[in-house]
Amino acid sequence: MQLRWWPRSIRWQMLASVVLLELLSLGLFAGVLISRQTNEVNQRAQQRLAHQANSLALQAQEALLHDRVSWIGPSVKMMGEAPSVAFAKVTDPAGNMLFVSAGEPEQHTLDLVERAQIPRMTRDQPTVFTLGDDRWEGVKPILVGGELRGFAWVESDRAWDRQELSGILRATVIFGSIWIVASGLLVWSMARAISGPLATLLRGTRALMNSPEQSGNFPLPVTVHSEIGDLIEAFNCMVASIAEQRSGLNDTLSMLDSMLANAPIGLAFFDRRCRIVRVNQIFADMTGIALNRHLGKTLPELLPQPVAQELEDTVQRIFSEETPVRNLELSGESGKPNRPWTWLASGYPVRTTPEHVRWVGVIVLDASERKRSEEALRKTEKLAATGRLAASIAHEINNPLEAITNVLFLLRNFCELEERALGYVVMAEHEARRISEITQQTLRFYRQSTLPARANMGELLDSVLSLYQGRLHTLNIEVERDYDPAVDLFCFAGEVRQVFANLVGNSIDATSAGGRLLVRARRSRNWKDPAQTGVRFVVADTGSGMEKAVREHVFEAFFTTKEVTGTGLGLWVSHEIIVKHRGLVHVRSRAASHKSVAAREKSSGTVFQIFLPDDPKLTAAVRQAVAAAV
Ligand SMILES: Nc1ncnc2c1ncn2[C@@H]1O[C@H](COP(=O)(O)OP(=O)(O)OP(=O)(O)O)[C@@H](O)[C@H]1O
Ligand SMILES: [Mg+2]
Repeated sequence: MQLRWWPRSIRWQMLASVVLLELLSLGLFAGVLISRQTNEVNQRAQQRLAHQANSLALQAQEALLHDRVSWIGPSVKMMGEAPSVAFAKVTDPAGNMLFVSAGEPEQHTLDLVERAQIPRMTRDQPTVFTLGDDRWEGVKPILVGGELRGFAWVESDRAWDRQELSGILRATVIFGSIWIVASGLLVWSMARAISGPLATLLRGTRALMNSPEQSGNFPLPVTVHSEIGDLIEAFNCMVASIAEQRSGLNDTLSMLDSMLANAPIGLAFFDRRCRIVRVNQIFADMTGIALNRHLGKTLPELLPQPVAQELEDTVQRIFSEETPVRNLELSGESGKPNRPWTWLASGYPVRTTPEHVRWVGVIVLDASERKRSEEALRKTEKLAATGRLAASIAHEINNPLEAITNVLFLLRNFCELEERALGYVVMAEHEARRISEITQQTLRFYRQSTLPARANMGELLDSVLSLYQGRLHTLNIEVERDYDPAVDLFCFAGEVRQVFANLVGNSIDATSAGGRLLVRARRSRNWKDPAQTGVRFVVADTGSGMEKAVREHVFEAFFTTKEVTGTGLGLWVSHEIIVKHRGLVHVRSRAASHKSVAAREKSSGTVFQIFLPDDPKLTAAVRQAVAAAV
């Protein structure tokens, strides 16, 4: 319990305690002393009174024995003048006043208390009794030859006794006060010796609390050589060790902070209510919400379902089972247009003591790219296998086709056929030639050269267009071929053919009936580096065109707007091939408005421009790359 009036400083507390204690003991001591002294003084007074009454009675006896009654008067007066005697008197046995120490006998009578003593009195012993008001009186019978002749009365002067008592009390108080002042001074100086260094210690502690980084106040001065001095020294050591630990801790925290901020993985920490306590920038990028708006949020507030629920369940499981969870695959779609993503999440318990799991840390790795690459690789493999299958079928078709062609030749030249039959044979020959052309194209597509070679771009583009001849014809798309037959390029012809097959295929997909397609190839210079020569290709159509959001993603793997029919790999593969040839690609497009078809055709369309370099240095580099790959 805190006493309000009790001082707060040690110095005053010690002083007040000592003074109070001493006052208390002095009071007790004085009380006991006074009561004992009072008893003693009373006893002494009674003995003295008995003695004085006895002595006065003896003197009266002596006077009466010698018939000298006149001696009694002076004896009474002398007794009355004694310092401890207030009044002395002698009475006859009936209590009538005979002699008094002051005044005349007639002026005095015995009072009731005195008279009551007469019958109780013993003959040979003095009696002492109290008269009330702290007055005492001694009385002794005066016997002469066994006969009672009177009483000798002596009343004590209590002022005299009180003087003695007050002398003792005064001495006690003076001595006690000197003692209190002396011990107070001693305690004060001792308290100063304790509280001074303690105040220094307190100032140091406050300074440490207010500005833990400021070490200017330390070490504190050690001014006393006592336990307090040792305490200050220990405090100085503790501050030094805290400073050392703090600097170590700061270093570790800086390292952890920079790790959290710069690690190429998403990091998030959750409390027991699955609320976020900390995340890093990568995690914020993943959720698409500003970093500072994550604090205190739960996963369903940040991520779409069912991913949020799955991750939250995992966090709860880690809290309850206290074991880590590794490589949990989460996938969903987000963005505009929707893009699929895959995350690999691992969670682990964060313990503050070996028994207590305070947080759960979650590491999230964006595996979308890896997933897409794996998927692309798988699909490319499938495409390659399909290509091989198509090529082997084309190859197998070639043999019987050759036989059919020969038979038709023989039929036409060496058999007598009527005109109608000859017409059918010519038609059959024409169709057999078409089949042969298709199988040749298919084979050429598959037989991609493993080494780069100089190829004629005109022929290459023609082969691509002839592959799409059927669809172009069906859709009545007007094709404009704008290339010089002499344009050739050192390249992987099969791959370059694949690029144009993709571009032309996309244009046909986007163009409605009656549209136009331009395919151009010209010797030109790199538009970014005019010193570099090569071939610039243009594939332009009057198709539906693309919105900005689509155009920005066309070169990404699996990006398609064709849902079921498209894989979204065509332009991604084409881009890879162009990069491999150290070329450039640029796309311009305008999306169709909701106008009439005629107006749309004028306003919408897409233009792909490609530059493929053809210089000796690059050729050597490509050769080297090929050699390394082999
Ligand atoms: N000429 C074009 N006109 C309009 N949109 C185009 C054109 N070329 C490409 N695109 C858009 O770019 C997307 C990606 O094209 P890409 O060739 O990579 O894949 P795809 O054609 O959808 O599928 P596939 O893998 O079968 O080629 C297309 O889905 C389409 O939306
Ligand atoms: Mg395509």
